[in-house]
Amino acid sequence: MCGIVAAVSAGGDVAGDVLAGLRTLEYRGYDSAGIAVLADGGIEVRRKMGKIAVLERELAARALPPSPLALAHTRWATHGAPADRNAHPHTDDAGAVVVVHNGIIENYRELRGLLQAQGHAFRSETDTEVLAHLIGHLLREDGDLHRAVRRALDRVHGAYALVAAAAGRPDLLVAARRDSPLVIGLAEGACYAASDMPALLHRTRDFLVLENGETAVLTPNGAVLYDGAGRPVERPPVRCDWTPEQAEKGGYPHFMLKEIEEQPDVLARTAFDRLRDDEGDVEFEPGFDLDDQALAGFRRLRFMAMGTSFHAALLGKLMLEELAALPGDTLNASEFLYSPRLPEEDALTVVISQSGETADSLRAMREVQARGGRVLGVCNVRGATLEREADHVILTHCGPEVGVASTKAFFGQVTALYLLALRVGRARGVIDRDRGRELLADLRRLRPRLDALFGPATAAPLAAAAELLAPAAGCLFLGRCLNHPIALEGALKLKEISYIHAEGYPAGEMKHGPIALISPEFPVVAIATPGRTHDKMLSNIEEVKARAGRVIAVGLADDRRLAELADVVLPVPEVPELLSPLVNVIPLQRLAYETARRLGREIDQPRNLAKSVTVE
Ligand code: M6R
Repeated sequence: MCGIVAAVSAGGDVAGDVLAGLRTLEYRGYDSAGIAVLADGGIEVRRKMGKIAVLERELAARALPPSPLALAHTRWATHGAPADRNAHPHTDDAGAVVVVHNGIIENYRELRGLLQAQGHAFRSETDTEVLAHLIGHLLREDGDLHRAVRRALDRVHGAYALVAAAAGRPDLLVAARRDSPLVIGLAEGACYAASDMPALLHRTRDFLVLENGETAVLTPNGAVLYDGAGRPVERPPVRCDWTPEQAEKGGYPHFMLKEIEEQPDVLARTAFDRLRDDEGDVEFEPGFDLDDQALAGFRRLRFMAMGTSFHAALLGKLMLEELAALPGDTLNASEFLYSPRLPEEDALTVVISQSGETADSLRAMREVQARGGRVLGVCNVRGATLEREADHVILTHCGPEVGVASTKAFFGQVTALYLLALRVGRARGVIDRDRGRELLADLRRLRPRLDALFGPATAAPLAAAAELLAPAAGCLFLGRCLNHPIALEGALKLKEISYIHAEGYPAGEMKHGPIALISPEFPVVAIATPGRTHDKMLSNIEEVKARAGRVIAVGLADDRRLAELADVVLPVPEVPELLSPLVNVIPLQRLAYETARRLGREIDQPRNLAKSVTVE
């Protein structure tokens, strides 16, 4: 996690601005906070373990000199325990460079060894200090901060959003981003960087969103962006309005489309800061508060939720069984109240909710607790009732989801449940360190593969599939095993925003009744990606075709057998089977969106629905 705010202005003192922004980012981490300014040719740093309020008390006691440049950080510890010495900002040992960073530098040990061999002395256990030393080292070679940052990042493996400044240059910040969010705020005579837009709305509504691999040079006159090869990038700023909803629409016609396209970032935000790649394990924030002994003590896990979150719950159970060899069960949260009272002492109930305010889910949580059980809440909104009342918490960090049809929140939930299953598997000794490393590497490799889901090759099949679905009175969504919940989710997405009746089924069930519906006017959407169910899915598609049904398939572009059978193939990249739900859900979300758009529906506010259902 971690939050970053930085500012450079033509004059005056920007520390107050930067701290105001930092306060809005405290949800990202709160074990320590710090701020640095440039003054008298040097760098002045204040940093304290604890919340921002502790830093503010320190600043009241030891005021910083006024400065037109400041960088601030609120931390969630990854490398090195929460402590003053590990708090950001970090400087190099010459005091020439200062850095704030969000993410993980995976090869920091190796880099630290190389720097130590050249005489560098380190004062913290953080990966970020290594980055500060490396940038400082390279800055000494040619004196250009932007070049030094880019050269340093060429040697770095990992995820980062970072901002750096150099002593004696109070007119210059350099920012960079890979897999962790960073936006640039543009204002008259000042330029800002922050982890999200709300952190800067008190100063500007004009933003440049830094893309993966880009760097930026910020001066009081504005920002210049550079791509990974160092070429300047021209991009018009995004104008934000005042309401939070509008502030996050960013030029997209609908929130739903924007939120669908944010999903590659959601993967990084939900997962990457939590991965302990070396140990092949996962570490959640302190609110999780379940150690190996506690996790290994549960005899079963129960997953409960409503709507889209319930489909994530179904996947939670399947992933738990795959990765932790522990029985899971799922129950629609609205049904739990009427279930027989079973012993709860050896069970953990996972309640999943984007909003954390869904009445049925909260009621189920309280009923579990009243029966003596413990609840782990998986929630997207900090401060929501689920987060406050659950015994244990995992936040999904998807960012605010405004579209009523849930998309990125589902993606974040499934990602978090994959991490949970892995964590439980490690705690139970079912997954060893090597297997854990492989599973984490699979997740990291997924990030670039998600880009293919939005590439030009997807446009024509998507349009053809939406044309096929739009006139239909109804349709079936079929999937098996890990992709059965995705079939259910695809059907829910289509029905709630296009108003076309859609049902999701385990594909094996089709012959037991739903096959009676198949006709040229009643299409089937079939998920047929590689894995243990692939052959059976192709057989199901053959059965549909034998009855003159039309088939939209989700599958690999080079799957020749599938291409021969299906009317349209929505192409997806090949990924490990366990991660296929995260990939396969995206074309189904886009299909629902494109179909609803053709039908002229109110996509972000479908009829009769509300974002948060607060009555039972
Ligand atoms: O906030 P929650 O995740 O608890 O919401 C649960 C459902 O109300 C929600 O997923 C709903 O089904 C969405 N409209 C689905 O797109």
